Amino acid sequence: MKKLYIICLAILTGISFAFAKDVRLGVPPKSLDKYYPPNSEKYEYLMNMYKASISFTGLSTSLREQDWKRAEKWAESLKNAYLKIGELVPEWDKVLRKKEANALVKAVKERNIRQIQFFANAVGRTCSKCHERYMASTKLLYHFPDFDTVTLEDPITGTDYEVADYMAKMTTSFKLLNVYMSDGLTKKAKKAGMNFVKRLKGLTQMCSECHTNKLSEEIYFGKQFNQKVKELETAIKNLDGKKISQTFAWINMNNCSKCHNVHEVPTMIREKIKKKQK
Ligand code: HEC
Ligand code: HEC
Ligand code: HEC
Repeated sequence: MKKLYIICLAILTGISFAFAKDVRLGVPPKSLDKYYPPNSEKYEYLMNMYKASISFTGLSTSLREQDWKRAEKWAESLKNAYLKIGELVPEWDKVLRKKEANALVKAVKERNIRQIQFFANAVGRTCSKCHERYMASTKLLYHFPDFDTVTLEDPITGTDYEVADYMAKMTTSFKLLNVYMSDGLTKKAKKAGMNFVKRLKGLTQMCSECHTNKLSEEIYFGKQFNQKVKELETAIKNLDGKKISQTFAWINMNNCSKCHNVHEVPTMIREKIKKKQK
């Protein structure tokens, strides 16, 4: 009965579960781990991709210049890099069009332009297909750092928190400022407000975990930011609601949001991929 009700509700409200759209990212095979830090600084998988890509360009350029000797060299080099994908990552061996890669080398040797085009396209399609599925997820997983290893000391309690928990605590302080102000509890409101400011300033302790250059820090925690935080502190002392909203809006736009665009959004997606890989 309950189920029927839900179905009716779905129809009435126009919700259609069948047409739900998802963006899909392939979960990179675990064997890629070997070719990225901390296991390797050599990026062997990526280097082989560059080799494949350069070989493709070498092949098409030498064909255009009708230099068949060089074309043969590049076709061979392309085939080797292409087949190496399956040696490096056994899970990917089955998606490779090996016969076509070999046939491409043969077609170049025989100088058969139509066959060259045919087999180059067949191989090239597998490059794009795999990239569409795995490129973004591989980059997030292996090039973007893991925020899980970063901790922040809370300036209020002295406890170490993971980034997400620290963010949640800091945000709660700001929400409490609003709640207590609205409830007319001025002392509590001021305390929550100042806790928010202390936690906000405390964010900079983590930047140097990844950034060796102070310049990165100054983009979100520069002069103008410091000025706005001062204004916010004064507004909290006076419990000036309008000024609090104004300065917070500036901080939200220029600190929280900008930093989230760069650090939080990739982290959110990265974590989803990482969970599935296990
Ligand atoms: C380093 C730059 C940076 C700055 C500046 C920053 N954040 Fe974050 N924030 C992050 C990252 C990274 C995460 C994701 C952490 C994770 O999921 O492990 C995050 C997550 C969050 C979350 C989600 C927490 C959860 O429970 O998952 C909230 C809420 C948040 N931030 C609020 C804020 C507010 C409000 C500000 C500004 C006053 C702010 N942040 C400033 C980097 C930043
Ligand atoms: C089975 C999967 C797969 C196949 C097939 C594949 N690639 Fe890749 N390729 C990847 C992944 C995953 C990455 C991302 C690696 C990274 O960023 O560390 C990548 C990255 C690259 C890059 C680097 C792009 C950048 O912006 O850094 C190039 C160039 C490239 N591939 C070329 C090729 C060519 C050319 C072929 C075909 C001859 C090919 N790849 C076939 C999975 C594949
Ligand atoms: C866990 C690692 C990590 C932490 C912690 C971190 N960042 Fe970043 N940040 C990155 C990565 C990764 C990028 C993208 C560029 C890159 O790969 O270096 C980036 C980019 C940036 C950029 C864009 C311009 C640039 O310098 O590349 C700014 C600005 C920045 N971070 C500021 C900060 C600030 C401020 C903090 C501290 C509140 C912080 N970051 C903390 C990893 C981190």
